[in-house]
Amino acid sequence: MLARLALVLLPLLPISAASDGVLFTSSVTYCQPPDTLLIQQFDVSYMQQNNSITFDIVAQSVSNVSVSANILVNVYGLTPVNTTVDLCDLLGGALCPLPQVSFNGSQSLPLPAELGVSNRVPAIAFRIPDLEAYAQLTLIEVGTGEVKACVQATLSNGWSTHQPGVEWATGGLALFTLLVAAWQSINPLSVLPHRLLHLMHFYQTIATSAMLSLNYPLLYRAFAVNFAWAMGLFFAPHSRLQHSIDNMRALTGGHLANSSSDAAVGLINRKISPWNTNIQTLVSSPMTQSLLAETPVNDAPPTSLLLAFGAFQQLNAVAEVQTVTNDSSNVLQAGIPIYVNSIHIATANAFMTIFIVGLIVVAIALGIAALLYGLLYAAGRFSWVKQPTDHQLRSSYPPFLRAWALRLALVGLLPVMIFAFNQWSLKDSWLSILFSVLALLAIAALILPSVFLTMRLARRESPNALESDAQHLATHGPLYAQYRMQRYYFFLPLLVAAFVKAVVIAAGQGHGMSQVVVLLIVELAIVAAHILLKPYDTRGGDVFSTYLAIVRLVCTGSMIAFVESVGVAAIPRVAIGAVIAVIFSVAVIVLTINIFIHAGLNRLWRRGNRPSRAPSTLVSADASTLEKGESSPIDSRPVHASHSRPPSNYSATPDNNSVTHHSASASILSHTALNDTTHR
Ligand SMILES: *[C@@H]1O[C@H](CO)[C@@H](O)[C@H](O)[C@H]1NC(C)=O
Ligand SMILES: *[C@@H]1O[C@H](CO)[C@@H](O)[C@H](O)[C@H]1NC(C)=O
Ligand SMILES: *[C@@H]1O[C@H](CO)[C@@H](O)[C@H](O)[C@H]1NC(C)=O
Ligand SMILES: *[C@@H]1O[C@H](CO)[C@@H](O)[C@H](O)[C@H]1NC(C)=O
Ligand SMILES: *[C@@H]1O[C@H](CO)[C@@H](O)[C@H](O)[C@H]1NC(C)=O
Ligand SMILES: *[C@@H]1O[C@H](CO)[C@@H](O)[C@H](O)[C@H]1NC(C)=O
Repeated sequence: MLARLALVLLPLLPISAASDGVLFTSSVTYCQPPDTLLIQQFDVSYMQQNNSITFDIVAQSVSNVSVSANILVNVYGLTPVNTTVDLCDLLGGALCPLPQVSFNGSQSLPLPAELGVSNRVPAIAFRIPDLEAYAQLTLIEVGTGEVKACVQATLSNGWSTHQPGVEWATGGLALFTLLVAAWQSINPLSVLPHRLLHLMHFYQTIATSAMLSLNYPLLYRAFAVNFAWAMGLFFAPHSRLQHSIDNMRALTGGHLANSSSDAAVGLINRKISPWNTNIQTLVSSPMTQSLLAETPVNDAPPTSLLLAFGAFQQLNAVAEVQTVTNDSSNVLQAGIPIYVNSIHIATANAFMTIFIVGLIVVAIALGIAALLYGLLYAAGRFSWVKQPTDHQLRSSYPPFLRAWALRLALVGLLPVMIFAFNQWSLKDSWLSILFSVLALLAIAALILPSVFLTMRLARRESPNALESDAQHLATHGPLYAQYRMQRYYFFLPLLVAAFVKAVVIAAGQGHGMSQVVVLLIVELAIVAAHILLKPYDTRGGDVFSTYLAIVRLVCTGSMIAFVESVGVAAIPRVAIGAVIAVIFSVAVIVLTINIFIHAGLNRLWRRGNRPSRAPSTLVSADASTLEKGESSPIDSRPVHASHSRPPSNYSATPDNNSVTHHSASASILSHTALNDTTHR
């Protein structure tokens, strides 16, 4: 288990990719419609190791004005470099007036040691994940002071808290939980199917926590993007799926921006991370003396640089670099737009993306269900299983399917609600809106009848009927089976909370403060409900679920620091973002350990000396024991023996054929009785 744990932990450490001391441009945009300087490609990187600059630039200057150049570097809202150089003083006046040339070059140049660049860039700039920095070049006409060109490029060092390793590890954990849960769910009272929902909902909490209209530090948003898959937001740059959705929207009245394979960071509203231009804190550090000011003036330019200049020729695809001003329509605002665009999904494509992913999941689920049914049919037909067991298997199959459909709907509930509501607020393609209504109806049709039937049964008879009615438990158990029977209704506040969250996230876009306050109230109410009602069967269950609720409360509360109007500076915001990411990561690790324990891994050392049994029996028996918080050996009391049996009774192993359906529900009853005596 330790080795497995280490395997899971390793990728969870966010900063694990190696990239050796390099700074490069991660996006380039005009901050003013291009006039003097046209750029098609602009990739510049600085290597720390050999103190050299590598560039790959396609650009041209198209007017012959005399300009001075202002270079501004903004790092976490600080401006360590802000210098203006008159180009007429440089290179013996070769750039005065600006020559009309096109420049198409890619070169690696060692920087002269006199520049001292290597001493000036602090080492942390090469190591901190999701660096928030940009450089801005402004050409100002000498004399008139008119801005002739303005180009902004964000800088990155290649380190990020968004790691494919984390996505694979979290996805692998979910898949592992799903497989074991599918096996254990033969017993409606086993724990792991509920843990699967806990896990997916927690992933979704992390993903949605970066969808509010807040000024998140880049580091936190990148961390939350690791969990985008749990919302159904599967992504790839240049994906065919996104292209098809673009086409579909264009044909059905869509007018909003298409998905793009470019980095979205260039389009982010300049007031928020990583641009941080509203918090202007001028510092006069030693770096304020510019890099250029120390350039040996009047030296002949390096010949390699000159060779790269070509004759003037019109660039034809200049449109690739976008112009972003604070009122241009392509600006990405805080919230869902930045979150989904940073993974190459257009805002208006988000719902269709999760819809199609959902359809694929449903198709796979139906395929597996059909396969299982085929196996059952064949088993009956060719008498692989003797008669009573065969009948019992067949009669328990429809409830089993219904229960899994209900679980699937509970997992899909939050993403579908958020993105459906968001789609309605966009007023884009009518087909997307139609599909979003259908998806909501489908989810409601899976969940609401179960809610209704459960409430009705509990009111007509007694809450205990929910457990004694084996058929109802097997079908609708995913809603309530984990709770004490007096607290069967605990799923209601959680469903209401999910609905409120979805409305707040989707409809509250643009109102960060209100979103955080409402979510804080919701999380506070959930924590209070946990503490007052103690809904779980066991202390362990209560402690575990309360812990997750408190984690959500604390993290939601900390997000007040990200509200734009609160105006916390960039560096403290990054620190708070890192703390929230660590708290969430630790909670995921706790969930992982809990899942492994419930999957029966603790048997490896606790009962290693017992005679070997069929693994399936071990797993399920152990899980149901653990659910009840028992630490004594399983068969120390006779009632336990019958209690530990239902899973194996239902299992399709041919040698269990002596057990009947009645003994299964009887053992569920005895389970309840045991529960009553030991914990109530
Ligand atoms: C450059 O500008 C001057 C006036 O500023 C104009 O006379 C001259 O024709 C221009 N040259 C070209 C090549 O456009
Ligand atoms: C940069 O310096 C110029 C003057 O050289 C000043 O007008 C401008 O406000 C400065 N910008 C920032 C962001 O400090
Ligand atoms: C730049 O140069 C490369 C190779 O020298 C060439 O393939 C490319 O088409 C050029 N780009 C433009 C815009 O001229
Ligand atoms: C500096 O190192 C990088 C790779 O580490 C290499 O690509 C580049 O050509 C080197 N530059 C010079 C000027 O040697
Ligand atoms: C999006 O792409 C489609 C074709 O894929 C095109 O018809 C439509 O005009 C594009 N929309 C925008 C806003 O660029
Ligand atoms: C854009 O910024 C300028 C100053 O930087 C300001 O005057 C203008 O009102 C802003 N426009 C919008 C839409 O915020």
